[in-house]
Amino acid sequence: MLPRVMLVTSEALPLAKTGGLGDAVSGLARALRDALVDATLFMPAYESALHAASGLEKVADLPGLIGGDAEVWAGWVADTEIPVLLLRNDALYVRPGNPYLDPDGREFPDNGIRFAALAQAAKRISVGETPIRVPHVVHAHDWHAALTPLYLHAAGIKRPKTVLTIHNLAFQGNFPLHLAEELGIPPAYRGSDGVEFWGNLNFMKAGLRYADRITTVSATYAREILTPAFGHGLEGVLGLRAHELHAISNGIDTEVWDPGCDPYLPEHFSALDMRGKIRNKLEMQRAFGLPTDPEAPLLAMGSRLTSQKMADLAIKVFPLLLAAHPRLQIAVLGCGERALEAALRDLASHHSRNLGVHIGYDERRGHLLHAGADMLLHGSRFEPFGLTPLYSMLYGTVPIASRVGGLADSIAGLPSAPDAEVGSATGILFDGDRPADMLAAVERALEAFAQPQRWSALQKNGMTRHFGWEASAAEYVELYRMLAPVAPVGAPMVARRPETAGAPVEAGVRKRA
Ligand code: ADP
Ligand code: GLC
Repeated sequence: MLPRVMLVTSEALPLAKTGGLGDAVSGLARALRDALVDATLFMPAYESALHAASGLEKVADLPGLIGGDAEVWAGWVADTEIPVLLLRNDALYVRPGNPYLDPDGREFPDNGIRFAALAQAAKRISVGETPIRVPHVVHAHDWHAALTPLYLHAAGIKRPKTVLTIHNLAFQGNFPLHLAEELGIPPAYRGSDGVEFWGNLNFMKAGLRYADRITTVSATYAREILTPAFGHGLEGVLGLRAHELHAISNGIDTEVWDPGCDPYLPEHFSALDMRGKIRNKLEMQRAFGLPTDPEAPLLAMGSRLTSQKMADLAIKVFPLLLAAHPRLQIAVLGCGERALEAALRDLASHHSRNLGVHIGYDERRGHLLHAGADMLLHGSRFEPFGLTPLYSMLYGTVPIASRVGGLADSIAGLPSAPDAEVGSATGILFDGDRPADMLAAVERALEAFAQPQRWSALQKNGMTRHFGWEASAAEYVELYRMLAPVAPVGAPMVARRPETAGAPVEAGVRKRA
């Protein structure tokens, strides 16, 4: 029998998303369920999550939780069979802004409490303190959930096994060390071989120290984070666990990303029939205030506007590109660091005919951008996986990306000689983070774009690569089985699909099977 797994996370599409974490966790949950694993999401009941879940009902009280009394509500990700448990404490989780920031872009001052509450609730569910059936494996994602393995380790009783997946080591959840007391972290866990990190309390380090297994989302990133250049100070801690660190790549959730049936697109297309892509291009030009021109090369950038994504570099490179290529069009969708947002707006006001900038988070535009552009610029100083360039490849938009992390694994780079065979190449890879590095890479893409046969070969190669979740989900299943080999046959954590409202309540969870 396959183990019951609880995925502890701050994001899952469509309940909450600020970046690839939301895509990756929901894609994994769907793929695990397709592989017949009883996978249940556990996340904060943000307002967006309460709206995007169906059939919610209260299944447990958690009195005296960090941050105040809380409840657990069980339901489904709307229109799916994916069960979700929501941790409800409206004072903590229902606020204007996104899951981490207020509307002015400032971190909520109580983020330490908010995510410790998530982890402590996960622990209480997992050791049977609520009527909810206990999981065999608790799979925590990123720093927001990374105290879970510590709390379970400290529980010192029969407990489920724990996995921590690193989606981005740059975000670690650092808080004042004195908070440890309030968060119920036992004194023995507060030292430098515990959660302490340069005088702070570091959530990610807690997960790295106490999870039974650690995974990250690409093979190259798994090697990189063991080095000072990519380890963000945690390379030493990771080095101690290197033999328990596994790389399992993300996939693409093709229920959400498929140019053949994506509901956000004005017209569908596929590798076999690309005609619809032009209509998306024209629609995208309109959406970004650019002149409609099917022939003009259209370069897109769609990401968080941060130094990770080399947004600072792009701002230097765009004017050079536009000066050299009067017909080039650039469209930017993103939000992030305020200074970078302002610089892009400013740039757009000086290049209103060929640079369209939309600052904000907009799922529809995100899909249109991948479908309508000719090429996607995705510079990264580090990239654990990088879903965006995969979406672009699937949508016939050729990525121009840094040769780091998951990008180095998932994009087959076009050889640099101008007349080199396209072969199996799917994009342009570049090294370095100087403007000249990025500029040269875009120039190479523009050269290839001017040769329709080569360009079309690049597009087709990308569109026909298989990026589904099945193989990756099978690797996670293998890992769970290794950790919990004798999981007995049992009922699911949250029993299945709606139909039978009013059915008996078993162990506090209304039975729906
Ligand atoms: P990261 O998780 O580091 O931000 P990924 O490329 O793995 O990078 O995933 C980013 C996800 O967030 C993609 O689904 C992308 O389309 C989406 N995204 C990023 N910025 C925006 C935005 N401003 N509007 C809509 N979607 C966005
Ligand atoms: C992170 C990473 C990104 C990855 C995503 C999902 O946000 O920055 O590279 O694709 O998580 O794992």
